[in-house]
Order: sequence, then structure tokens, then C-alpha cells
Amino acid sequence: MDGNGRWARQRGLPRIEGHRQGVQNVLRIVDAANDLDIKYLTLYAFSVENWQRPPDEVSALMHLLEIFLNQYTSKLIERKVRLHIIGDIEALPQFAQLPINNAVNATAHFTEHSLILALNYGARTEVLKAIQAYVADVQSGKADVDSLDWPTFAGYLTTKGIPDPDLIIRTSGENRLSNFLLLQSAYSEMYFSPVLWPDFGAEQLGEAVNAFAHRERRFGKTGEQIKQT
Ligand code: IPE
Ligand code: MG
Repeated sequence: MDGNGRWARQRGLPRIEGHRQGVQNVLRIVDAANDLDIKYLTLYAFSVENWQRPPDEVSALMHLLEIFLNQYTSKLIERKVRLHIIGDIEALPQFAQLPINNAVNATAHFTEHSLILALNYGARTEVLKAIQAYVADVQSGKADVDSLDWPTFAGYLTTKGIPDPDLIIRTSGENRLSNFLLLQSAYSEMYFSPVLWPDFGAEQLGEAVNAFAHRERRFGKTGEQIKQT
């Protein structure tokens, strides 16, 4: 979700107004994704690097997160959407952690659609934590190095149980991943949209999914092999 700041600047507004508008857009996209029967929608809301922003912007984002959860938890329940978090939320202010845990618990029984919020998430941090947990299991005899394979290691990542993303969309014209799901995206299709996040609506999501539907995903095989299946 990129481009909130530029959206505001183009209108002569403070950056936080762009973030406010960006939050409003989240429910629009949750609905649009539900309509398209997208089972897992992950939103990169706050990266481990985002702490380096000016303190007043970080603080405003944390308060917006709290407002978002207080307003939207009932809407997620109405829509039967399960909320997951990836990233370390223990470093977030307490006032934000409470509504997060509340929303995660209140939606834990839904199985059809998941909204995954990446909060204080960074892929490199995730990998380091996974290695630490794995090594601890090796040392205690719970894991065996010789039998380490990808599904086993993936079970130590914060995305455990969540399938790899088929499609990754970045808005606002930036063409990079910025420490997002670096391992899980090994075979993801990438889609870069010039539209700023607050303006990225159902129509734009539909265009992205349509572009995705026309990609040939070969997973290392040849085009001929794929056409035979
Ligand atoms: C993305 O919008 C929102 C968050 C990272 C929380 P930006 O704040 O990065 O917007 P630009 O890139 O300055 O336009
Ligand atoms: Mg940005």
C-alpha cells in the first residue's frame, strides 16, 4: 500500500490525511477481494524500516491502526474475514496491541477469507527469527538438520499455514519489494500499478487480477509442458 504521502501532497494536505484516506481504502479492497473470492489478502501496513520515519508520523500511524481496528473489527466479523498478523506486534504501543489481539481472537473461527496485516514486518527479520527458532529445535532434538527441507523451514516463518502469494501488487509506481515476503514471493507474479494507494479501488484490483490471469506461470518448467497440463 504505497503512495499515501504523495496523494496528500498532491492536494496540499498533510501526509497523515493520505494515511487516513489509505485506511478508508482498506475496507474497499477487502470487499473487492471478497467479491473476487480471493482467499488470502495480505496488506503491508508497516515495515520494520518504517520506524525511521519522523516520530509524529509514526505516532499518527499507530493511532490510525487503533482507530482502524476499533472501527473495522465488527465489519470483519460481518464479512466473516479472519484477521492474521505477520510481524512483531509486541514492539507496537500497547494501545494498538489490544485491539489487534481482540480482532485476531474475535475472527479466529472464520475459515473462508483471511486478511493478513503485515505490521512491524520485515522479511530479513523474519528469516533471522526462523533460524533462531529452528536452531533451538535442533539443539533440543526436536528438529534434525539432515532432514531440513523447504516445507519444514517454511513452518518457522511468520506465514506458517498461509500459502505463498500468487500475486503481489505494489501501488504508486515504485518497482521494488522493500523487504516484503522475500522467500514466500519466490514464484509470485509481480504487478506494479502507477495508481496511489488511496485511489486504488475495486476497478484497479480487477485489472491486476485480470493481468495475473493472463500470465503463464511455469515454475521452472517449459511453456510446452505447462500447456499439456
Ligand atoms: C504508504 O504510503 C503507507 C505506509 C508505509 C504506512 P507512504 O507514506 O509510503 O506514501 P509516499 O510513498 O510518501 O507517497
Ligand atoms: Mg512510500
